[in-house]
Amino acid sequence: MAWNPELYDQFKKERSAPFFDLLKLVIPRDNLKVIDLGCGTGELTSELPDYLPGSEITGIDYSSEMLEKAKLLETDKLKFYQRTIEEQLESDQTFDLVISNAAIQWCDDHEKLFPEIISKINKGGQLAVQVPSNHDFIVHQLLRKVAETEPYKSAYGSWERHYSVLKTEAYAWIMFDHRGSEITVFEKVYPLVMDNAEAVFTWASGTAMIPYMEMLPGDLQEGFKENYKRELKHIFMKSPVFYPFKRTFISATF
Ligand SMILES: C[S@@+](CC[C@H](N)C(=O)[O-])C[C@H]1O[C@@H](n2cnc3c(N)ncnc32)[C@H](O)[C@@H]1O
Repeated sequence: MAWNPELYDQFKKERSAPFFDLLKLVIPRDNLKVIDLGCGTGELTSELPDYLPGSEITGIDYSSEMLEKAKLLETDKLKFYQRTIEEQLESDQTFDLVISNAAIQWCDDHEKLFPEIISKINKGGQLAVQVPSNHDFIVHQLLRKVAETEPYKSAYGSWERHYSVLKTEAYAWIMFDHRGSEITVFEKVYPLVMDNAEAVFTWASGTAMIPYMEMLPGDLQEGFKENYKRELKHIFMKSPVFYPFKRTFISATF
C-alpha cells in the first residue's frame, strides 16, 4: 500500500501517544533481542534503545517510503529492513520482545497470525501490541458507504475492506491458549479533538482511506475523495469535532 510519511506525521502527537502507552506495558530489561513489526518511519522504534539498554533492535516494514526516514536513524544496535510481517514470520529468527504499534491491523486472520508471532518469542520473552479498534466508528462507515455507490461499487467489484481486529477477549484467549502469563488486554479510548471535518478527512487519508484508494483506478480517486469529504462534512457540521478513537492493547510473557 502507498504510505505517505508526511501525511501520516501530520497528527504526530495523536499517533505517537498510544506507542508510549504500549511502552508502559513493556518490562524494561537489558540486552534483549527485539523486533518491531511494521515500524513505519522508525521514529518510535528509536525510542526503544533508551528503554532497553544494550538491546539489539530490528524494525521491519514493507513500505519503502516509510523506511526511507527510518534508515537515517540506524545505529549498530538499531537496524531497519524492508520486509512484510508475513515474510518475517517465515524466518527462523526468534526474539525476546516482539513489539508492534498500529501495524498488525493490516494483516489478515489474527487467530492464525498471533500464534505464529508467539512462536517467534524466546522463553521468558514478551509480546506487546497495539492495534486500532475503531472500525465501527462513523469515519470508517462513511468510507464503506461511499464505496457502495457507483461508479466505485463497480470498480471495486467483489473487493471490500476487511477488518481483522478481534474483540479484546479473543486476544486474551489466544494469549492464554499459547501459555501466556501476565496477560494484559484492554481497550482505551483516545479523546481526539479535531478542528473540523476537513481535519478528519486528512486523518483518514493517512490511514483508513489508503486501501480504498489502492483499489480504485486513478481517474476515480479524486471523485471518491470529494464524496467522502462531503459525507464527513454532513456528519461533522460543528467545530471542533470529537473523535473518540478506540485502541486495543495486548501484552503477555511466554
Ligand atoms: C500506521 S503505521 C504505524 C507505523 C509505526 N509502527 C508507528 O507507530 O509509527 C503502519 C505501518 O505498518 C506497515 N505495514 C502494514 N502492513 C504491513 C505488513 N503486512 N508488513 C509490513 N509492514 C506493514 C505500513 O507500511 C506502515 O508503515
